[in-house]
Amino acid sequence: MKSYNIALMPGDGTGPEVLVEGVKVLDAVAAKYGFKLNYENYDFGGERYMKTGECLPDNAVDELKKHDSIFLGAIGHPDVKPGILELGILLKLRFALDQYINLRPVKLYPNVETPLKDKGPEHIDFTVIRENTGGIYTGMGGAAMVGTPNEVATQVMVYTRPIVERCLRYAYEYTRKRNKNKTLTLVHKCNVLTHVGDLWVRAHKEIGDAEFQDIKQDYNHVDAATMWMVKSPEFYDVIVTSNMFGDILADEAAEAVGGLGIAASACIGGLTAYFEPVHGSAPDIAGQGKVNPTAMVLSAAMMLEHLGQPDRARALDEAVAAVYREGRYLTPDQNGTATTTEMARAIASKL
Ligand code: NAD
Ligand code: IPM
Ligand code: MN
Repeated sequence: MKSYNIALMPGDGTGPEVLVEGVKVLDAVAAKYGFKLNYENYDFGGERYMKTGECLPDNAVDELKKHDSIFLGAIGHPDVKPGILELGILLKLRFALDQYINLRPVKLYPNVETPLKDKGPEHIDFTVIRENTGGIYTGMGGAAMVGTPNEVATQVMVYTRPIVERCLRYAYEYTRKRNKNKTLTLVHKCNVLTHVGDLWVRAHKEIGDAEFQDIKQDYNHVDAATMWMVKSPEFYDVIVTSNMFGDILADEAAEAVGGLGIAASACIGGLTAYFEPVHGSAPDIAGQGKVNPTAMVLSAAMMLEHLGQPDRARALDEAVAAVYREGRYLTPDQNGTATTTEMARAIASKL
């Protein structure tokens, strides 16, 4: 029997609540389709940090590398200063594992309410490909004279041609494989960011012209993209963008398809890939059984696809769609009264 080794990182807040349900659903898929998942649990997160002063132990990356993939709930604790866990765990892993692509599909399921007027599933189906190892996120820059009236702080948008190229090549290939409108829209701000933006714009055109003549090239400034996404989401097929812009656009896009409770993501491209919801630890609803498990479950579907089980991934995606179509077992964010566990159970039962 085919088996996979999965590292589990429940994390903080509602992270463990969605992760446990994601694992149950994965086990249901595995039982039905005859493969096996072996799990190992890692307690990285706020509680561990407050006890030990450590975000990740020295051997964490080597440990995690041994697995076929990582399945992560969410990181971020209200009692830990913002940035410590996010940089010390999430970004540390993304960089150390060189996961240069953050894949964030945006798909409106039938019967899910969108705040976009007169838009339905036929209008909202695109993917945000977010560059995941560069940009402002590298943390380059620094602070000086902190606490004085002349305090200085910089955080630099760093990109190299190779980092931009590998992201764009992945995005072009993805657009080709997706085979929808065959349009790859670069989102940047080249009218102001004349160094970094220009690097992205030239690489987008040069790679497209040379290697992907079958793919249409498009470009939006990021401010306009936030507007188009709300006004005419049907324009988009695949968006490729830099780290910070992708972070922001993904949350906006999530809202168009029913909110953060539904938006899944994959950090891939380098060594061991990791799969997690777009949302954070949602501390405001932790421990109440209210958190929507869909984003976690759809992240599980992305993981199955990555592990070479695309049919199982599709089965899981269809099970999610069936639960929304039926509308009986939905969490409060979807105007339902089901608990996290009840909704996840309903998804598993549709397999
Ligand atoms: P958040 O995504 O945790 O929550 C934003 C809002 O959306 C909250 O009202 C929350 O209740 C709601 N929400 C989120 N997920 C939901 C779900 N599955 N079901 C129902 N409602 C849901 O964002 P935040 O409040 O800005 O961040 C909280 C913490 O999470 C911070 O520490 C932040 O740094 C961290 N964070 C972590 C990740 C990650 O682990 N990948 C992602 C984003 C934020
Ligand atoms: C996300 C989160 C992270 C990011 C933070 C928590 C480091 O917002 O996964 O979208 O900015 O990438
Ligand atoms: Mn984010």
